[in-house]
Amino acid sequence: MDDWANDLEKLWDFAWQKLHRGAADAKSPLHRPAFATAGRDGGAEARIVVLRSASPSRHTLEVHTDAASAKVAELVADPRATLLFWDPRSNLQLRARVRVEMVTGDAEAWEQLGEGARMNYGGTPATGTGIDAPDAYDKTPARDRHTRLIGHLQSLDAVYLGPEHRRALYSRDDGFAGTWLAP
Ligand SMILES: Cc1cc2nc3c(=O)[nH]c(=O)nc-3n(C[C@H](O)[C@H](O)[C@H](O)COP(=O)(O)O)c2cc1C
Repeated sequence: MDDWANDLEKLWDFAWQKLHRGAADAKSPLHRPAFATAGRDGGAEARIVVLRSASPSRHTLEVHTDAASAKVAELVADPRATLLFWDPRSNLQLRARVRVEMVTGDAEAWEQLGEGARMNYGGTPATGTGIDAPDAYDKTPARDRHTRLIGHLQSLDAVYLGPEHRRALYSRDDGFAGTWLAP
């Protein structure tokens, strides 16, 4: 039984340590979470994304995407999203519910991207559009399509599946003090 899993404050700190590392380290299992949104047809949508930054002081989780992608239209309609992480080394699942602020065409963020990474933003036709042949698309980078999705944490549900199970919920409403839930 890990000591940090028995204390609300330690568990919160441990979770943020893992998220912070997940953003910085491409080898971390937290580097590629599932990102879920409310679909335009009323169902749920989810896809894998790269975690770009995690700020324990601002309570933000940031990912980047193309302004022309379906998820952006979904977030315009409903800015609520969920990021889902699993860390097998610490037996910890983190479900972060966020409200997403979108920033498109940020010059500073664009400067920090390498040539290869810029290819992920822009291109014709937009991702998800039907094409006549498998290679009938072009990948021209476009700064005005690069979009920062800044997720402002609303709640964090932490599930620990060690020798004994633990579950805690941290909500913005109570300043993220945390409360235990039945696992
Ligand atoms: C390992 C991996 C990492 C990915 N990272 C991102 C990412 O950081 N941002 C992004 O928009 N899409 C990323 N994708 C692609 C998305 O999963 C998805 O296919 C794409 O964004 C279109 O999603 P949408 O049509 O639901 O908007 C990644 C896919 C994989 C497999």
